[in-house]
Amino acid sequence: MMTNTLLIIEDEALLSSELARFFRKSDWEVSIVNSIQQAEIALREEQFDPLVVLSDMNLPDGNALDLLDKLKPELGNSEWIFLTGYGSVADSVRAVRLGAYDFIEKPCSLERLNLLVEGAARSARAQRRLQAQTATQNSHYSITSLIGNSSAMQALRSMLTQVINVPFSSLIVSGETGTGKGMVARILHYSGRRSHAPLVEINCAALPRELLEAELFGYESGAFTGAKKRHRGLFEQAHTGTLFLDEIGEMDLDLQSKLLKAVEDLRIRRLGSETEISVDVQIIAATNLDLVEKVSRGLFRRDLYHRLNVINILVPALRERKQDLQQLVPQFVATYNRKSSKNVITIPDEAWQLIQAYDWPGNIRELRNVLERCVLLANGQNLPTEWLQLQPPGKAPAHAGLINSNQAGLFIPLDGSLSLHEMEKFIIQEALNRTDANVTAAARMLGTTRETLRYRVQKYHLKCKF
Ligand SMILES: Nc1ncnc2c1ncn2[C@@H]1O[C@H](COP(=O)(O)OP(=O)(O)OP(=O)(O)O)[C@@H](O)[C@H]1O
Ligand SMILES: [Mg+2]
Repeated sequence: MMTNTLLIIEDEALLSSELARFFRKSDWEVSIVNSIQQAEIALREEQFDPLVVLSDMNLPDGNALDLLDKLKPELGNSEWIFLTGYGSVADSVRAVRLGAYDFIEKPCSLERLNLLVEGAARSARAQRRLQAQTATQNSHYSITSLIGNSSAMQALRSMLTQVINVPFSSLIVSGETGTGKGMVARILHYSGRRSHAPLVEINCAALPRELLEAELFGYESGAFTGAKKRHRGLFEQAHTGTLFLDEIGEMDLDLQSKLLKAVEDLRIRRLGSETEISVDVQIIAATNLDLVEKVSRGLFRRDLYHRLNVINILVPALRERKQDLQQLVPQFVATYNRKSSKNVITIPDEAWQLIQAYDWPGNIRELRNVLERCVLLANGQNLPTEWLQLQPPGKAPAHAGLINSNQAGLFIPLDGSLSLHEMEKFIIQEALNRTDANVTAAARMLGTTRETLRYRVQKYHLKCKF
């Protein structure tokens, strides 16, 4: 819990003590100063960082607006409210320009003042939260966190450097699974012009059409069965920030038309509402599918494709830039050393050869997972080659005839012939086989939800009935 701290800058002792008494009663921690000089000492030297500053405009030793102007660059996220004398319009205008929360004419009712102060406190708290969050995110998602010295990676980084400096309306990030599309999207947001505002993310493949629509556009209570409360959609939540539509290629065609309209008009309507709401969002869409090919087959709307494709960023597959392994492997090994308190410092030649020869269909995510496993299972300073478990390219999976099943369970060989992903795929396939491809029944069998399973089924390109 943040404490509510209030600084009152007021030279009329009677007024300031009345205000202090009032706000202390509602749990504010109040400090009073009676001059500009004292205020400056409190805010600057004592680094008092109040949530709200309530200040008289004219004080015996100067104007409080000059103080705000002077301290602004170094102040935390305090909201300022000014108490003004009758008719000081010019001052009020300047107050707003300087980013004051509001001003109120003296004399005013405590009730009105309280409302203002509460509003200012909410605003200051929100700013602080966002700033704390953005500060941690920003350091995670800078362009330099994209590792790799290959020319493809250098080109990608310089492209991103250019793009983050322009106010693009929409953009598509494409690339195979696990290449780093999500990471690119986060970098674009957190290093870009909208980093102060939210990044709102949704995976279009993870939800059935109706739910996805409700999530994106929001709804009024009673818009459909189950819509109990009004819900602000993701477009609204992303206002002034970025909406990240992951796996856009999986979006249903008629939802695509609705999305197109929203993107073109920058206005949306909640389901069950007549009122249009303006939204200012930048769209980043990601896909691991060939959208051009989907367009030519009539599975993706051409107009939406062109609308989104203002800028296209292709993240290259790992096998096309294997030289990046030189930087990626040590980096991931170091990360997992840290996470699991291991101390793997040598990568034997034999391991290097296997890593270099492998095709990496799951790209960086697969590499990361393989290295996580190896570090976790390491017994010393060498990366354990036996836990790499990489299939040479082109060779059929060795497990084809090995897996037996019986009704109650499954047999999965733990001899390194299956990666974790292959195991997951195999388990899901087996559940579908046993339920005659019925997703609901298979989801029950696996103790998961239909939505999660549906997503996995699409991810692994399995067949099922919905
Ligand atoms: N160049 C890179 N340097 C360091 N880490 C990377 C790089 N590219 C990707 N990663 C890491 O690899 C993992 C996979 O990346 P990400 O989730 O962004 O891939 P994706 O393309 O969105 O995958 P999917 O298609 O499955 O959604 C993440 O942990 C990410 O941080
Ligand atoms: Mg992703």
